[in-house]
Amino acid sequence: MMALPRRNRWLAGLRRLILRPLTPLLQRWFRRHYAVERRWRRHGLDILVQPGVFPPGPTVSTAVLLDHFARRFPGRNLAGRRVLDLGCGTGLVGLFLARAGAWVVSSDINPAALSNARLNAARNGLPFHPVLADQATSFAPDAFDLIIITPPYYPRDPASMAERAWYCGDDFAYFHRLVPQLAALDLARTELLMLLSEDCAVETISTILAGHGLGLHLVHARRSWLEMTWLLRVGRQS
Ligand SMILES: C[S@@+](CC[C@H](N)C(=O)[O-])C[C@H]1O[C@@H](n2cnc3c(N)ncnc32)[C@H](O)[C@@H]1O
Repeated sequence: MMALPRRNRWLAGLRRLILRPLTPLLQRWFRRHYAVERRWRRHGLDILVQPGVFPPGPTVSTAVLLDHFARRFPGRNLAGRRVLDLGCGTGLVGLFLARAGAWVVSSDINPAALSNARLNAARNGLPFHPVLADQATSFAPDAFDLIIITPPYYPRDPASMAERAWYCGDDFAYFHRLVPQLAALDLARTELLMLLSEDCAVETISTILAGHGLGLHLVHARRSWLEMTWLLRVGRQS
């Protein structure tokens, strides 16, 4: 596996020390705060986060993707590009790319996420093509130029549809099912971007990818006090 930039060992230890007693309190705050509809704004998009849908605010992963695309596509120059926002949540990332001119399919396994994303598309006056789908199983391998995935990566079995936004299964079932689908893509034509962080078992995920001839390549890393987040391109192993 390629070496990914990581937080200084001492800072990481300090963070663990601070977070351990705070985690139950943070989780309680989180559940209460997102039990009602919330509003979030970034890069000129104004979105609502409905209960049971992944909120882009508290973790930095969604913001890392948005900031990356804002730097990479500063104008409306994505006309003709076909994008799959796989596991779209509130729809924010796909809507950002739709605003830049791309044709975007927003998919999710959670009907509540798709209905939230539909509301956000209407709110921002943007086109919306929703698909209720389990991972990439409903799509032709060459249907997209760009696929974006911010996967659930905490190893626990999800107990509800809402928990699917966070938990990938005790045994990483989400990745064991997804990776063969990704391996079937023509990765010379389809760019595949995935967000992971140092909070996840990146070695396990890399091993699952390597089992299908795939590897991770660092595009961008962002350090925050909360976590180190990596934007990665999934490609064939050389
Ligand atoms: C970490 S959230 C990311 C949401 C959004 N992309 C963002 O960045 O704000 C993961 C999303 O994947 C969806 N998801 C989980 N398992 C899925 C599956 N098997 N197929 C499709 N979507 C899935 C969840 O419902 C959730 O919306």
